[in-house]
Amino acid sequence: MKTLITEMFGIQHPIIQGGMHYVGFAELAAAVSNAGGLGIITGLTQRTPEALAAEIARCRTMTDKPFGVNLTFLPALSSPDYPGYIKAIIEGGVKAVETAGNNPQKWLPALHEAGIKVIHKCTSVRHALKAEAIGCDAVSVDGFECGGHPGEDDIPNFILLPRAAESLKIPFVASGGMADGRSLVAALALGAEGINMGTRFIATQEAPVHEKVKQAIVAASELDTRLVMRPLRNTERVLRNAAVDRLLEKERTLGADLKFEDIINEVAGVYPRIMIEGDMEAGAWSCGMVAGLIHDIPTVKELIDRIMLEAEGIIYRRLAGLGHS
Ligand SMILES: Cc1cc2nc3c(=O)[nH]c(=O)nc-3n(C[C@H](O)[C@H](O)[C@H](O)COP(=O)(O)O)c2cc1C
Repeated sequence: MKTLITEMFGIQHPIIQGGMHYVGFAELAAAVSNAGGLGIITGLTQRTPEALAAEIARCRTMTDKPFGVNLTFLPALSSPDYPGYIKAIIEGGVKAVETAGNNPQKWLPALHEAGIKVIHKCTSVRHALKAEAIGCDAVSVDGFECGGHPGEDDIPNFILLPRAAESLKIPFVASGGMADGRSLVAALALGAEGINMGTRFIATQEAPVHEKVKQAIVAASELDTRLVMRPLRNTERVLRNAAVDRLLEKERTLGADLKFEDIINEVAGVYPRIMIEGDMEAGAWSCGMVAGLIHDIPTVKELIDRIMLEAEGIIYRRLAGLGHS
């Protein structure tokens, strides 16, 4: 399938794997790229720019297809070495960067000069328009359904995507709630040029995370996520567990007085314990409502082939078969 996104990133299928903390290692990024999508290494999971450079080099030994790096600009207390990470990306010969979080404007000239295409992930039309205005090449529009940080507007993709389509000139992909061929066709119908998936890619054979994480996603329904950290305006959609219930209880009790320090046990340093050790009650970890549509743990290639086959079936048989009125 050819879309503006497949053309922009030189990939076969319009399917991107979003950056995911402690999930987006070389194994997953290479598997997605080898299957014809765009795999993404999560930059900040690598502790230093040197570690990111090594991860990029490792990914290159696993695929000769294009892959990208996610750089998340955090509202962080201690700012990571962003100039170092940007240098590692450029010197690593990466040609695609997914930015997320704060405005990436400062880094665009260096990235563009190196021939890198930048896709900025945002959760509102106004942020998408800002990304377009500062020169991003594409945007990933993350609806309210998404795992991770859906922003504070709570607009689901059935509204957000067509609003993006009527407002943007640059191409965009639909992110949040995407799982299968139906999602892809719906996203295309709403004006997107492809899809970005997070949660769905965790439940694959190649995702380098503990088996219990994959099983938790398969076991979860669409009712099992919760929004945390809303009082801090840093809302995150996570899978419900005992730590999340504790966190929400603190939010209820403390109300407007809640500070980050109050919930630090439930949110800080959680990812390695969940993703590597499989300690499923360690704290709050991102997961999308799309868990309700995830029932198996295929290989990445099986997943992507299945999505494309199903999408083509819907377009060429079901929809074409509806005929003219
Ligand atoms: C476990 C997990 C970790 C994530 N970590 C990041 C991250 O570090 N940076 C980022 O930009 N997005 C992150 N995301 C968001 C994904 O890239 C993607 O936008 C989101 O998962 C899309 O929604 P979906 O899960 O419904 O597919 C994460 C998502 C998950 C599920």
